[in-house]
Amino acid sequence: MDWERDGYLTIPDAVSAEDRRRLMDRAAEIVREAADDPVSVFSTHEQSRTSDEWFLSSGGEVRCFFEEEAFDADGRLVVPIERSINKIGHAQHDVDDVYSEVSRRPVMAEAAAAAGMRDPLLLQSMHIFKQPRIGGEVTCHQDATFLYTDPMTVVGLWLALEDATLDNGCLWVEPGGHRGPLRTRFHRAGASDADGTAFTTLDDTPLPEPGRAPLVPVEVPAGTLVLLHGLLPHWSGPNRSGRSREAYSVHLIERDADYPADNWLQRPADLPLRGF
Ligand code: FE2
Repeated sequence: MDWERDGYLTIPDAVSAEDRRRLMDRAAEIVREAADDPVSVFSTHEQSRTSDEWFLSSGGEVRCFFEEEAFDADGRLVVPIERSINKIGHAQHDVDDVYSEVSRRPVMAEAAAAAGMRDPLLLQSMHIFKQPRIGGEVTCHQDATFLYTDPMTVVGLWLALEDATLDNGCLWVEPGGHRGPLRTRFHRAGASDADGTAFTTLDDTPLPEPGRAPLVPVEVPAGTLVLLHGLLPHWSGPNRSGRSREAYSVHLIERDADYPADNWLQRPADLPLRGF
């Protein structure tokens, strides 16, 4: 595997079992604490993302987002609350001590350097559950669509907290696909969170179809860190197995890149981005 050639890298045994346990325990605690708060469904399907103020105002917060399939047609939860959450995001790497500590382990900075980053800032974090049976598909995308900078600098650090397999919805990537163009940009449609969001097409080259060549599965044991180039097309399928596929991801950008004011993710002025 070669970063320049393939646009992704895997680093086995990057994070200890103890750190993984701490992240999963902390996530469970956050879900319990949030159980009584207002919540919104998050999925990467365009439809449910638009006008989602809960999502748009989460850039400096630690928030829970439901799995779509956690509800029946009448909007009632059909699984226990602790099995209903799709992800926690998007600033726990800065506002939560446990996440901040693990996000800034030396191996994370070393990974950023291996991806050619010079002065990385930690922009966004997500604890992804991929719940048993109902874990949703993440449609094929490029991270630079959602975390756009000029020039393109975003790199994803994706840590397997549990084994990721074909059965429970592992990542799939298009090796070398990062040398293709950025297809779309997701951005705010107006100045207020209530104005919602829009996609702008930049290049109409299609992204790969889900679950087959040129995408290849990245099955990795727990503790593996996967580095993803911001232009690399990737996808993960639904989890129909009885096991969760928890992962923790941190997205980095270069300090000196331009970060547009209409990117969906905006941080409050009193919570500036930080590095390692
Ligand atoms: Fe992604």
